[in-house]
Amino acid sequence: MTEAVLGIIGGSGVYDIPGLENPRWLPIESPWGQPSDAILFAEYEGLKLRFMPRHGRGHRLAPNEINYRANVDVLKRAGVTDLISISAVGSLRDELAPGTFVLPDQYIDRTFARATSFFGSGIVGHVAFGEPVSARLTGVISAAADSAGVTCHAGGTLVVIEGPQFSTRAESEMYRKLDCDIIGMTALPEAKLAREAELPYATVAMVTDYDAWHPAHEAVDVQAVVTTLAANRAKAQALVGAIARTFPRTLEDDPARSALAHAFMTAPEVRS
Ligand code: ADE
Repeated sequence: MTEAVLGIIGGSGVYDIPGLENPRWLPIESPWGQPSDAILFAEYEGLKLRFMPRHGRGHRLAPNEINYRANVDVLKRAGVTDLISISAVGSLRDELAPGTFVLPDQYIDRTFARATSFFGSGIVGHVAFGEPVSARLTGVISAAADSAGVTCHAGGTLVVIEGPQFSTRAESEMYRKLDCDIIGMTALPEAKLAREAELPYATVAMVTDYDAWHPAHEAVDVQAVVTTLAANRAKAQALVGAIARTFPRTLEDDPARSALAHAFMTAPEVRS
């Protein structure tokens, strides 16, 4: 019976949950370069938790500056078996008002200047990514949200842009026409790298604004994002607390755990 170790990538503050035991910051080195920060190791009622502040403590890194490969690599080295990411996003739908939590099940990648794979340098691998989100993790998060009285919309498409600038109104309207529901800057390539690392992954997206398309709202700025995040901090912490309380303590099957089984193009004798 193997133990589950839950990794959480999120903004600062999500790890400030009451009941966290034995918290300690431990730096872990990666051959992929500098991760955003050390990892906060802690326990919660017998569950091992590993937190990575995505932008570094003090928010030092823009979404396009984050070393996503190093972050996923050090979490894997820290023993993480399941990965939940928490991200601020804009809304592309009237009904997803600021303050809403969404669990997207699809992503569209509009990033263009990030290292998106652990493969390369002579090793060719293509992981399947048709279903980028772990349905099992989404179920765990939904049930935890229900138990904490936090409303979470399950499903939806998250478009991930390069940033750090927000979108133009024309881009925002285009994403709406493409049937995207929410817009962010961080879930990719994180989700792709998690898949290559055979880590089940899901995003909790916290809506902070209406992006640039909404005729009745000013185009998004940082103040709107920060104000909504602050107003929803307690809700986010309650959700993380409920996830920690209810997360299965033993490892559960998930298709992502064998993502590499049929991924290699390079012949085994060349790889070894
Ligand atoms: N993060 C929060 N709001 C956002 C938006 N409107 N676009 C991209 N990323 C965001």
